[in-house]
Amino acid sequence: MTETAWIRFPKDFLWGAATSAYQIEGGWNEDGRGPSIWDHFCRQPGRVQTGENGDSAADHYHRWAEDVDLMSQIGLKAYRFSVAWTRILPTGAGAVNKAGLDFYDRLVDALLEKGITPYPTLFHYDLPQPLQDRGGWPNRDTAKLFGDYAAVIGARLGDRVDHWITHNEPWVTAFLGHLTGEHAPGQRNPFATVAATHHVLLSHGYALQALRAAAKRPLQVGAALNLSPSYPASSAPTDQKAVQFTDGFINRIILDPLLKGRYPEDFTSSWVWRWLERGLGRRSRQLIQADDLKVIAAPMDFVGVNYYTRAVVRYLPVVQSMQTRPKDSEYSQMWEIYPPGLYDLLTRLHKEYGHANWLVSENGVPVPDVVAADGGVHDPDRIRYLRNHILQVQRALAAGVPVSGYFVWSLLDNFEWVYGYGRRFGLVYVDFATKQRTLKDSGKWYAQVIRDNGLQA
Ligand code: FCB
Repeated sequence: MTETAWIRFPKDFLWGAATSAYQIEGGWNEDGRGPSIWDHFCRQPGRVQTGENGDSAADHYHRWAEDVDLMSQIGLKAYRFSVAWTRILPTGAGAVNKAGLDFYDRLVDALLEKGITPYPTLFHYDLPQPLQDRGGWPNRDTAKLFGDYAAVIGARLGDRVDHWITHNEPWVTAFLGHLTGEHAPGQRNPFATVAATHHVLLSHGYALQALRAAAKRPLQVGAALNLSPSYPASSAPTDQKAVQFTDGFINRIILDPLLKGRYPEDFTSSWVWRWLERGLGRRSRQLIQADDLKVIAAPMDFVGVNYYTRAVVRYLPVVQSMQTRPKDSEYSQMWEIYPPGLYDLLTRLHKEYGHANWLVSENGVPVPDVVAADGGVHDPDRIRYLRNHILQVQRALAAGVPVSGYFVWSLLDNFEWVYGYGRRFGLVYVDFATKQRTLKDSGKWYAQVIRDNGLQA
């Protein structure tokens, strides 16, 4: 028998799993929760492909204790969840809903009791609808109100919760919500997109300050960013231009203000940006005000990287870049599967941005899982996906990138936005009719990885 080498991770490596409020909680109108833009969006015909919504989702709002037991069974070291702003402040501002705070308080205590480190995220797409009615993220006031919300939750949980994530995927909030319209609030407006981008980033800065002030002790605060390494579709020099554009458009537009304190120059010097800024200035207040970038770039304690796939792009005049679908590659129900992209991304981030603490805050794959006759859920494709990506994290560590943890998306099957319940990402299978949970083979496999603190090559 040949000996296979063990790949071990650093002693305190943080093995986790992630979820978000709207995708798992349900209980949409219970105990004083106010409406969010996703409640509204799902009710507009044609927005969600399946016509579904998150009204009851995985019913985590009632089954949280069972879910914490499952986390404990897997042996998770950390759990990343999001707080629903509308449970804490049902109209987004003003009156605080005690029942909402109590819910997260109980959850946090249950996690701590099991030795699972909580990583709450303050915003995972579910803006209070009343704030949308006042202009949403394109309105600068929303950034300030987000800071106020952070202060409320920070004051309640900041005595026990050490790690916080302000925003999940600011780019998605701004661009899918306001440019492509795939996400709530479903706008297609370039002015709104640019304004939303800046205000979401600004709100991150306000929240960072507010959390630290409210907790009255040092906290670890970061943000979780969707990042995609870009590759040229061919060796043509124009395709290299497309790579530069895509990288700026998806990655640097968020990374540079947060980590370098400025927007990428190839963007700000372009006529499109100038046109948008001038247009915005005429419509309302100056978009980027004095000190905004200082607030945005306040040092984070860690940077979360959500990685699913890469972008392979071709140059096209006017739009600059078009995504292609490489042949002979492997695809999931949603995206190309490209594990080395995670290594490329982490090493590039380390080289260019030099932050001391990177965290893979999401990584996972949708698989059309079913419960087999033996009662199990056999998902070898997910195991392979996770394994191949975890090996890339190890490669990055070996190359000197300080990566402190890895979170699987997701703990539970859940409401996958425009795809409804048709995309299962969980380590735990959820029967959405009965809400019954079944630990998948991947969940058992991940438990073993955590116990071994590594895997065999
Ligand atoms: C990420 C989101 C998460 C989930 C996964 C598949 O972009 O943060 O809510 O939808 O994709």
